[in-house]
Amino acid sequence: MNSPHQHCEVAVIGGGAIGLAVAWRAAQRGMSVVVLERDEVGMGASHVAAGMLAAVGEADPGERGLLELALESAARWPSFAEELAEACGIDPGYRRCGTLRVARDRDEAEALEHEADRRRELGLAVRRLRPSEARAREPALAPTIRQALELPDDHAVDPRLLCATLARAADAAGAQLRERAGVARVLARGERVSGVELADGSLLDCEKVVVAAGCWSGVDGLVPVGAELPVRPVKGQILRLRDPLGPGLLRGVVRVDHAYLVARGDGRYVLGATVEDRGFDTTVTAGGAWELIRDVAEAVPGVLELELEEMTAGLRPGTPDNAPFVGAGVLEGLVWATGHYRNGILLCPVTAELVAAELAGEAGAGIAAAFSPTRFATVGAGALT
Ligand code: GLY
Repeated sequence: MNSPHQHCEVAVIGGGAIGLAVAWRAAQRGMSVVVLERDEVGMGASHVAAGMLAAVGEADPGERGLLELALESAARWPSFAEELAEACGIDPGYRRCGTLRVARDRDEAEALEHEADRRRELGLAVRRLRPSEARAREPALAPTIRQALELPDDHAVDPRLLCATLARAADAAGAQLRERAGVARVLARGERVSGVELADGSLLDCEKVVVAAGCWSGVDGLVPVGAELPVRPVKGQILRLRDPLGPGLLRGVVRVDHAYLVARGDGRYVLGATVEDRGFDTTVTAGGAWELIRDVAEAVPGVLELELEEMTAGLRPGTPDNAPFVGAGVLEGLVWATGHYRNGILLCPVTAELVAAELAGEAGAGIAAAFSPTRFATVGAGALT
């Protein structure tokens, strides 16, 4: 028999970094919040993510709005991490380590020059380094590298620690976290949200629903017809490595074309990531491992001495324009916090603030306007079924 209806003000679908951060911020504002996670909190894309906070490195100079959002979020990271640590007594693993973007041959060096110029035109901090200067910063770099760019403002965080701290902070602020609570569909009465039906058939009444379900945010039937948004899975395979000799191989993040190596600072490293359109497939392949190791080992040969601890594949939430959906859609009470593609961890602080403000009824103007979910809505309000 179904349990009697439960009620809350805000139901958050998805207990990854974004959903947990939204729940934390909303609960801090006094809202009654329930997070509904189909698996265990933090075990989706957040569990696989490397945690690069690469506002500058991932910037596409043609996407000024996204760059602005990324820079805004990067600027919030130090205080966000500090506040989280204070809220739950655990350090979320934020490291101001900087990033080196490395060219392995002449063609890559030319491309890097171009990248540096374009970023400088946008006022971003980049410093061109000769190979000897780059090796002075990261002695593990191969003597054969041709050039490097220092991105002093691109740092890193440990997404697994981040989710653990966010879950504690959200819980301490009063949010209820429900695991193994998959959502079958969002319910509407007329043109507004009335609750959610869970996979087990039980109902949760609520005034507002936040969709923070990563690549599952776009699955058929989750939201009423006409309110759907195009979110698709983009697979990323990633390796976790450990130096038996302890920390010291690398200080920060090293990036080459198509791969990156992120130092955790304790002898552990994350080597990522493939970008594959393969639907919901999360198998890991020898080819994926080979490509990643080959690409990074040309820049950091010492990576071949590391122990391989784990290989996983995660699913990034991709959108047609690679920009996230943040804010209200066409159905009243339905708010989106998804589609962050390669930048979910970076965009966590700013997304949580913007969505909590939207839930509180504060106008979604300014920076949020460019990421309005209505830019891809198939119908306007009034045509929902
Ligand atoms: N943020 C890097 C990636 O998605 O692989």
